[in-house]
Amino acid sequence: MIKIVTIIGARPQIIKAAALSRSIRNSFAGQISEVIVHTGQHYDSNMSQVFFDELGIPAPDYNLGVGSGSHGRQTALMITGIEEILLKEKPRFLVLYGDTNSTLAGAIAAAKLRIPIVHIEAGLRSFNKSMPEEINRIMCDHASTLLFSPTTTGFDNLQREGFNDKNQQPYTSDNPGIFHCGDIMFDNSLYFAEIAEQKSTVLKEWNLTRNNYLLATIHRDNNTDIPERLSRIFNALHTISTTHNLSIALPLHPRTAGLLKQNLNPALYEQVTSGSLIRIMPPVSFLDMIALEKNARMVITDSGGVQKEAYFFGKPCVIVRPETEWVEIVKAGAGIIADADYDRIVEGAGRFIEHPPADYPEVFGDGRAADFMCRTMIACQTGVS
Ligand code: UD1
Ligand code: UDP
Repeated sequence: MIKIVTIIGARPQIIKAAALSRSIRNSFAGQISEVIVHTGQHYDSNMSQVFFDELGIPAPDYNLGVGSGSHGRQTALMITGIEEILLKEKPRFLVLYGDTNSTLAGAIAAAKLRIPIVHIEAGLRSFNKSMPEEINRIMCDHASTLLFSPTTTGFDNLQREGFNDKNQQPYTSDNPGIFHCGDIMFDNSLYFAEIAEQKSTVLKEWNLTRNNYLLATIHRDNNTDIPERLSRIFNALHTISTTHNLSIALPLHPRTAGLLKQNLNPALYEQVTSGSLIRIMPPVSFLDMIALEKNARMVITDSGGVQKEAYFFGKPCVIVRPETEWVEIVKAGAGIIADADYDRIVEGAGRFIEHPPADYPEVFGDGRAADFMCRTMIACQTGVS
C-alpha cells in the first residue's frame, strides 16, 4: 500500500481531486491510501464545501484554514502547515494539481523534505510571467518527480525545458518521469455529464432555455483588478446580449463580485446588474456548471477549466485573455483569443453565434487519465515499469 498526500485549496483543484479519489476508490483501494489536505485557499461554501457534498470527494483529513491574503503571506502559511503534515504523514508521494498558490506551497514544502512530487497538469505554459499561475506552475514542474501532462503541447513544453522523456526508473526530482496521459478534467466531465443532466435544476431556476443563452465567467486578477479591462469586458457582454437578444448566465467568482461596483462606472454597473438579459448568479455547483455548459449556445471566459469544459461539450469559446495554455482549442477553431478587447470579444461572439464550429477533435485523452496516474504511481513504488 502506498500513501499519498493530496493538496487541494482552490475550487478547480477540489473538482479535479474528485477524479483521482474516485479512481482510487473504484480500482486501487488496496494499493493506494490517500490523505487529503485542504489549504483553505477557497472557503466560501459555494467555492468549496458544495463540491465535497456533490462529487463524492472524501472529507479532508486536514484543513489549514489559511484563507485569503497577499501571495507571500498566503503561501507562507500554507508551506508551514503542509510541512508539519508531511513530517507526520511521511507519504510516498505528494500530489499537486495545477498552478495555484496551494500548488506552489505544496511543491516548496515537499521538495525541501525530499518527498517526491506528482504534478497533475504539468507542462502548461502561457509564456506570460506576469501571471502568478505561470510562476507557480514552472516552479512546481521543476521540483517534481512524476509529471503528468494533459496535452501534447504541455508534454513538448516540458521537453523544451530540458525534461527527458527517455528517463527510466527509479524516478527522482533529478531524474523525473514525464507522461502525456490526457486531462483529468475530461474524466470528470464524462463521468458527471449524465448525472448533471438528471439532477441539475439550474436552467429552470434562472429561466434559461437550451441553446438560447451564453455562459460567461470572469475571475483572472488582471481582468478583475484593472477597471479599464473589467469595464471593456462587461461592456462587451452587455452589447452581445442586446445585439443578439440572448441571455448571459454569469456565475460570478467572489473576487469579481467584490470588485464589480468599485471598478465599473455607475451607468455600466447599472446596465449589467439590473437588465433582464445578464443573469448574475453566485458561484454554482459543479453539476449546475456542467448543465450550464452543456446547454449554452457558446461560452465567454477567462477560466482555464471552463475553456476546456466548453470544448468537451462541443461549445465554442471566446477566451478573455491575451493568450491561452490550451492552444489546441484555438487550433481546432473552437476558441478565439479576444483578450479584454471590446471589439474582439463582440466580434468573436458574433462569429461563433452565426457560424458555430463543427469539429472538436479529441485532444484531451480518453477520460481515463486518473487510472493511468494511479497505475504509474503504483509501478514507481514497485519499480516494475
Ligand atoms: C485562485 C488561483 C487561480 C485560479 C482560481 C480558481 C492563485 C494565485 N490563483 O484565484 O489560479 O484560477 O483560484 O478559482 O492561486 N474569495 C472569497 N471567498 C473564497 C475565495 C476567495 O471571497 O472562498 C475572494 C477573496 O476576496 C480573495 C479573492 O477572492 O482575496 C481571491 O482569492 P484567491 O484564492 O487569492 O485567488 P483567486 O482569484 O480565487
Ligand atoms: N466551476 C463551478 N462553478 C462555477 C464556476 C466554475 O463549478 O460557478 C467549475 C468549472 O466547471 C471548472 C472549474 O470550476 O471545473 C474552473 O474553476 P475556475 O474557473 O475557478 O478556475 P481555473 O480553471 O481558471 O483555474
